Amino acid sequence: MAARGVGLLTRLPLHSQRRSRVQRSIPRHFSCPGTVAANFGSEEQPLDGSEDKIPKKRFSEVQKERREQAQRTVLIHCPNNINEKKFLKYLSQHGPINKHFFYESFGFYAVVEFCQKDSVNSLQSEAHTPNMSTESAIPFKSRFLNLKLKNLSNKIPEQLCAQTSNQSPPSSKKLFELLNYAESIDDQLHTLLKTFQLTEENVRLRHLTCSLIEDIAAAYFPGCVIRPFGSSVNTFGKLGCDLDMFLDLDEIRKPNVHKNAGNFLMEFQVKNVPSERIATQKILSVIGECLDNFGPGCVGVQKILNARCPLVRFSHQASGFQCDLTTNNSIALKSSELLYIYGSLDSRVRALVFSVRCWARAHSLTSSIPGAWITNFSLTVMVIFFLQRRSPPILPTLDSLKSLAELLLKEFFEYFGNFAFNKNSINIRQGREQNKPDSSPLHIQNPFETSLNISKNVSQSQLQKFVDLARDSAWILEQEDKGQPSPSSKQPWGLAALLLPPGTAYPSLSKKKKKLMSEKVKGLLASIKSSSTDISKGTHGKRAISTQA
Ligand code: GTP
Ligand code: MG
Repeated sequence: MAARGVGLLTRLPLHSQRRSRVQRSIPRHFSCPGTVAANFGSEEQPLDGSEDKIPKKRFSEVQKERREQAQRTVLIHCPNNINEKKFLKYLSQHGPINKHFFYESFGFYAVVEFCQKDSVNSLQSEAHTPNMSTESAIPFKSRFLNLKLKNLSNKIPEQLCAQTSNQSPPSSKKLFELLNYAESIDDQLHTLLKTFQLTEENVRLRHLTCSLIEDIAAAYFPGCVIRPFGSSVNTFGKLGCDLDMFLDLDEIRKPNVHKNAGNFLMEFQVKNVPSERIATQKILSVIGECLDNFGPGCVGVQKILNARCPLVRFSHQASGFQCDLTTNNSIALKSSELLYIYGSLDSRVRALVFSVRCWARAHSLTSSIPGAWITNFSLTVMVIFFLQRRSPPILPTLDSLKSLAELLLKEFFEYFGNFAFNKNSINIRQGREQNKPDSSPLHIQNPFETSLNISKNVSQSQLQKFVDLARDSAWILEQEDKGQPSPSSKQPWGLAALLLPPGTAYPSLSKKKKKLMSEKVKGLLASIKSSSTDISKGTHGKRAISTQA
């Protein structure tokens, strides 16, 4: 993956390459040696591309560092009125702590990152398996622990409780308030991005969850890696999005070139199955069983092994993430890297993608349930395609993007509101539309497996709904262009108007639209009337000629 990452990055325009080479200086005293994101807290910004000003690292580098960070981290279920100072002092007996934060998700949890991996082992050696009075506990040692208070002096009054980091998106009410008080649609786009993007803590929790699952999978496949992919790592993730992860067995499969020198070749004895798909199904089946029976905090495990891409779906209760575990899926990781690179080019790409994703969600064009709807992945590819096709193209030439985010949203809706979906396919590999190879209503070529359509599931009616909403939204934004909104106005405007669910904004807006349309029609009729009067009046005169011209 590292070599591929280099390849993709070297093809970026100079502008973004320059940015990616800048290294963020981290005050030495804040960090343990070898840590990724030091001094996180109030000023901390995710390194995964969530903030425009952060120098971007290569995707493979970020993933490697996050994984290493997660391996030094433990998840602890705590009493919610714990004395933070005493808690940290107690844990530091096992070694210095680099970072910690608390959050709530059906309980109160602490994420604690030690400076050294040995501290985790030391803490684990102190922990014991609980004695159950009625049920029987399956002894399973993991980095997900439970802290009990022996002594009430470790409790503190509720008002002094440790601050928790928020892991959920804001309520609609709060969002509309924020959007209404923005100064322009451009400002709204960035407000939406800031409000919904994954926080540093949420990114850490995602990598930690993968690391905990990796420990479980390693019981069967020592040396395996569980890698997060999709919106958790491609910089387009919204708070609350699912956690896609895949079990990577390539590290185990890799031949050890140094140790195989000489006249002999030593191989492991293995079992063979008729196809790779069967191997995938067998591996996922056993991991699914293991998660179900022994995985602390893993609930609702479903094995969906007959899907095109077999998977195990489960909820990781402590982190609150809905997880999809696949294997043999390195293409998906490549897609994530591609989107990461596009997202890193400029924060306006992400602002546009977030707005389009939120708009699609608000109108039920997308759903968390699989079905005939457009997926967020397809939507993101559509935004990228639009940015490539726009005249002048925005991707990968970015200089002109600086002041264009606001205009782009309207143009995006106009572009796809008028796209010839009936005959054309979207192809971001070549940055142009192509004749559709089949009759699927929406055809978006998979950038890595070019014979596949990533939106094969989308029905004609869902596509039509998308087109109609895109046209309406372009129209709404067009009207906003004409009249400057008052930031304090109570009426949703700009992006806020676009995000209101059907039946709220749209009826009133369609009334407004109808009124404006009828004014336009009236004007048109009046002008026809006056021209015909002119024509009939002035068949011989100059004015009749000028009207016709
Ligand atoms: P969310 O809706 O925020 O979860 O976005 P997501 O990008 O994570 O989408 P999703 O969870 O549906 O899929 C996870 C990843 O799988 C995507 O980012 C893609 O890399 C990949 N993926 C999803 N759908 C397809 C598809 O139809 N074909 C291929 N090749 N990859 C896909
Ligand atoms: Mg996902």
